[in-house]
Amino acid sequence: MEHESRRDGFLISTDRSLIDLEAVHSVLSNIYWSKGIPKEIVWRGIEGSITFGVYNTIAPQARSPGKQVGFARVITDAATFAYLSDVYVIDEYRGRGLSKWLMEVILAHPQLQGLRRFCLLTRDAHGLYARYGFKGLDDPKAYMEITVRDIYLKQ
Ligand SMILES: CC(C)(COP(=O)(O)OP(=O)(O)OC[C@H]1O[C@@H](n2cnc3c(N)ncnc32)[C@H](O)[C@@H]1OP(=O)(O)O)[C@@H](O)C(=O)NCCC(=O)NCCS
Repeated sequence: MEHESRRDGFLISTDRSLIDLEAVHSVLSNIYWSKGIPKEIVWRGIEGSITFGVYNTIAPQARSPGKQVGFARVITDAATFAYLSDVYVIDEYRGRGLSKWLMEVILAHPQLQGLRRFCLLTRDAHGLYARYGFKGLDDPKAYMEITVRDIYLKQ
């Protein structure tokens, strides 16, 4: 079941069919954490996630559902664990509270309740996520990962 929220001429929707893949790929392939990511991988990620598209529904040039101005996705089993990824709002729409609203919508999603762990990585937006209860690792010694840096630039 899809979820949506509307505010001040903007729409946040989990409906994947509304996603402007060209726009999302264009941003994600240029952003520091996924530079060079191929469009097929962006789409595969979308298919495996709960996605949250942010649309400007009153943009004069808009076609339905409106210009895509932001995005986030949550990779999850919808029971115990979730990982928040690929959060962005495009330049022209920053500083007007869209990412804070996006976080509220994400955290209220019915499939993301009662989780044992909800995590994310960020280079410099700690202040944004701290508002919603995210904090540094309780026990960094317990945490392990495999990371392949610049994976898409090497291919
Ligand atoms: C981070 C980002 C999503 C914020 O979007 P936004 O819609 O402009 O944010 P909002 O207007 O909702 O405000 C965000 C709040 O978090 C704070 N904040 C903390 N760190 C921030 C950061 N690195 N960038 C932007 N805001 C940040 C802001 O000061 C603001 O708080 P305030 O209202 O008390 O001033 C947007 O700047 C962006 O897309 N940046 C590039 C991609 C990115 O870094 N994404 C996050 C990766 S984890």
